Amino acid sequence: MTEPKSKHITWHHGLVSREEREKHNKNVGAILWYTGLSGCGKSTIANEVEKRLFDGGCMTYVLDGDNIRFGLNKNLGFSPEDRTENIRRIGEVSKLFVDAGIIVSTAFISPYRKDRDAVREIVEDKDMIEIYIKCDIEICEERDPKGLYKKARAGEIPEFTGISAPYEEPENAELVIDSGKHDVGECADIIIDYLKKNKYIDM
Ligand code: ADX
Repeated sequence: MTEPKSKHITWHHGLVSREEREKHNKNVGAILWYTGLSGCGKSTIANEVEKRLFDGGCMTYVLDGDNIRFGLNKNLGFSPEDRTENIRRIGEVSKLFVDAGIIVSTAFISPYRKDRDAVREIVEDKDMIEIYIKCDIEICEERDPKGLYKKARAGEIPEFTGISAPYEEPENAELVIDSGKHDVGECADIIIDYLKKNKYIDM
């Protein structure tokens, strides 16, 4: 982990602990870290899971790839360095959500294993649930909801994940779900079941 730039800063502890916050809720804090190719269904599934959690009385929020790039990460592109910085910042923001006792879902391609592992390192192991939304690139390309694969094939978008930039599959994801085989509802069922079984939620 890199050190802060300034040596003259001190960590300040608040008066309300994470555990106290969690006692108010039907859930403990956790990161649902979705990863997978563009068009694999990360955002759609994350939003469906969030709706169910919310309706069940849980504290929850979604950080979504494109949206974050309009604000917090508007100065970042898609070079390997920028993607690493993108994921580092999202990881730090997610850590704050966990401390606030919230289930935060992150829907980013997050193509590099080392970047995802670096997020795991800044939280407790049980706080990070990596969910690989596995989907054949042919299916993602056929869906092409934003028309980006077409542009990437035409050479209009450089460094496009799966075409001209790499995607490194997770080796130890808590969940691997094939969105080519399951519809959105079934994918959400698998995730909610996991959260119930492992006592992240009480609903
Ligand atoms: S990540 O690689 O840094 O994790 P992120 O999830 O934030 O990517 O953004 C991915 C989204 O940006 C894609 O779903 C797509 O809509 C858009 N995008 C634009 N350019 C690219 C590119 N070169 N590679 C991948 N996605 C891109």
